[in-house]
Amino acid sequence: MQDLDVNEITEAVIAQMATTPDPRLKEIMEAAVRHLHAFAREVNLTPDEWLKGIAFMTAVGQACTPYRQEFILFSDVIGLSRLVNVMHDAKGREATGTETSLLGPFFREKAPEIGLGDSLAKVAHGPEIVIYGQVTDADGTPVPNAEMDVWQTNAEGMYDLQAHDPSVMDMRGRLRCDAEGRFHFRTVKPLGYSIPMDGPVGELVRNQARHGFRPAHIHILVAAPGHRELVTALYFADDRHVDSDTVFGVSQSLVIDPKTGLADAPRADLPAIRYDFVMSRDTDGSGGRVGSDPSKLVPAGRVGSDPSNLMPAG
Ligand code: BEZ
Ligand code: FE
Repeated sequence: MQDLDVNEITEAVIAQMATTPDPRLKEIMEAAVRHLHAFAREVNLTPDEWLKGIAFMTAVGQACTPYRQEFILFSDVIGLSRLVNVMHDAKGREATGTETSLLGPFFREKAPEIGLGDSLAKVAHGPEIVIYGQVTDADGTPVPNAEMDVWQTNAEGMYDLQAHDPSVMDMRGRLRCDAEGRFHFRTVKPLGYSIPMDGPVGELVRNQARHGFRPAHIHILVAAPGHRELVTALYFADDRHVDSDTVFGVSQSLVIDPKTGLADAPRADLPAIRYDFVMSRDTDGSGGRVGSDPSKLVPAGRVGSDPSNLMPAG
């Protein structure tokens, strides 16, 4: 029997977990224990604070539904999603490939299909813009017939999941680029918006006196055989939060500014954005997605843990 002091406890836990057969699980859990213990020692965590942390994590889990992923939101506001994204990109993105951005919690599979030139707005109204460009590979060769998923807020800063019956899809669509990788679609200029502030993550952000806003943006996911899925977003330069995104999604190369009078714009009557997307080669099949459709992360029919699944003591 060991008497474990504040440092020996860490090594005792790691020693007991040394039986873990999966080497990656072993590596991750060892590092997690080491860092968590170091964190508790650094802040001298009290029992009350430990319990508050547990209550917070419990509330985060309870706020998750098929339409909402509060854990991803937590990861976003503490910059963990961005960090994982950047590390993932460092392995899979070619040097000239378009920079990626967060998938975010509002992506949904199977958005309505739209034709080239169509609008994403079915229900929403507001000033229209046109977005056009070409999808190429890292050498500049056009990628034919790439599939593009686009989703965004409406002109009031609401996603369809927040504005309507969540089963109604609006301000999102899937389109197929032409044989030269060219695309264009119309949309309503989105408005920046506050991340969902009515849950435990919002409470944390408020307690930190942060504004909680994301700058206006349009999410784009591009997929084509043989290429790494490109998950990115375009951010509007005129948004006052473009330099202080609550979830750290903005990169300079993704900032856009609609202009009228662009010579090759498909619609001369609308402000236009030309953005060419550069896909990287798919080298390991890991894709570019850091995140998920929330409905994929909540087991069907489960809103909490079933106590009957717990192991009996002993
Ligand atoms: C979004 O892009 O919509 C988003 C990303 C992270 C947190 C909240 C919203
Ligand atoms: Fe978004």
